Amino acid sequence: MPAQQHSRQRGPSFSRRDFLKGSGAAVAATAIVTAPQEIDAAQESGPKVTSAEPTEVTLTVNGRNYRLKVEPRVTLLEVLRNDLNLTGAKEVCETTTCGACTVLIDGKATYACARLAIECEGQDIRTIESLRNGDQVDEVIAGFVKHDATQCGFCTPGFVMATKAFLAKHPKATLEDVRKGLGGNICRCGTYKGITECALELARKGGA
Ligand code: FES
Ligand code: FES
Repeated sequence: MPAQQHSRQRGPSFSRRDFLKGSGAAVAATAIVTAPQEIDAAQESGPKVTSAEPTEVTLTVNGRNYRLKVEPRVTLLEVLRNDLNLTGAKEVCETTTCGACTVLIDGKATYACARLAIECEGQDIRTIESLRNGDQVDEVIAGFVKHDATQCGFCTPGFVMATKAFLAKHPKATLEDVRKGLGGNICRCGTYKGITECALELARKGGA
């Protein structure tokens, strides 16, 4: 069940004009003729679309600015893992279903596979790597360890980030709140009991 706090935005759609531009050869081959005034009207009313060429973007990740050149189709998850070597967020379903790729964007739990990197310029992106400082780890990570809330670990970084965002918003969460609030993440190993116990213990202490 999708959690409310998760953002599931998809990338911008293409206007008719951009589609026609991108498939010019096919249009010519099939002799489809569109009146110029119709195309211009479509361009003015359609969404603004950037070029498909790599474009420069500055992403703020874990408090650090990264200047990158990325194609508009590239997701935030791909940039984090492939360009910035921040591999905590996991690539599992890529269909906004499992939550393994969850990061925080402006404090909100977000599926990184569902956001284009170019959309995230100017936003505060936090990954699981931000929750560790040398030997010190965030209390949510410590809580997962304490409550044995991990097995294979594939869902764990996403679950930790979702829990972090959830407790920041619901510092006195109840069992029902936790079940609903973390419903956007899936654990195939079935560690829900430990995750829930961790979240409830932190909620009893006033959040994370
Ligand atoms: S990999 Fe993003 S939701 Fe599953
Ligand atoms: S610990 Fe294996 S999927 Fe959650």
